[in-house]
Amino acid sequence: MASHFKDVINRPIKKVPSLRDITIANVFFENSTRTKLSFELAEKRLSADVVNFSASGSSVKKGETLLDTVNNILAMKVDMVVMRHSSVGAAHYLSKRVDARIVNAGDGTHEHPTQALLDSFSVNEKLGEVAGKKVVIVGDILHSRVALSNIFAFQKLGAEVMVCGPITLLPKYIESLGVKVELDVQKALEWCDVANVLRIQLERQQIKYFPSLREYSLYYGIDKSRLERLDKEITVMHPGPINRGIELSSDVADSDHAIILDQVENGVAVRMAVLYLLAEGIKP
Ligand code: CP
Repeated sequence: MASHFKDVINRPIKKVPSLRDITIANVFFENSTRTKLSFELAEKRLSADVVNFSASGSSVKKGETLLDTVNNILAMKVDMVVMRHSSVGAAHYLSKRVDARIVNAGDGTHEHPTQALLDSFSVNEKLGEVAGKKVVIVGDILHSRVALSNIFAFQKLGAEVMVCGPITLLPKYIESLGVKVELDVQKALEWCDVANVLRIQLERQQIKYFPSLREYSLYYGIDKSRLERLDKEITVMHPGPINRGIELSSDVADSDHAIILDQVENGVAVRMAVLYLLAEGIKP
């Protein structure tokens, strides 16, 4: 389905009428560049009507609750809500309380399901298949919603998954998810076919963490010299935003190893597929 929509958005006329007369609200309580814009583009390319809501500048600032906010949006005859929220489980909470399709566009440190779908789609596109591939997720696993969704998606598709990062940035339960754990980034890179590199989520850290950014960059930062020490080519991914020079150097981020902008391009097609499938049953 996503491959079909990728063909669609590469045509001179990028729109299809699939979601005509469906109204979708993009409700973002946290900042976003890629997810917000790609959902909006996906909706418009499916011919849905689109409204955008940001918590800043809204009546959330006057104390309105999440449930009241979304119920008021739905009262305006909105059919689906795409939501990003800082609280773990916010999308699930809403889905149990309102009569509308709710799409999780990232809930705090928990999950980012459409990111995992576009990441696995991008690996499949680059390497031919996901099954049997070795994927390492490097970085701040503890505070990352991309990490958990990536672990579930890549395992489901038959990849072996490893996580790599400082012990202070790995959740205590990580081994119960059936992933390998490696503290040495060079060994992790030697093992993998694909490295999905995550940023340090300073905004989510409750306490001043160890290591410092300088130490992180020294021990875990991935640069060209690390890749040159490998006896094979690996694929480098990053969900964005990149903190250049910390988790990833520009000479890797902008190299042929990286599929970072392919991930972004694929985000539109994958989100078109998600919205199309979720609209089953409400299409006029
Ligand atoms: N990958 C991702 O979720 O990026 P944004 O925060 O910019 O949406």
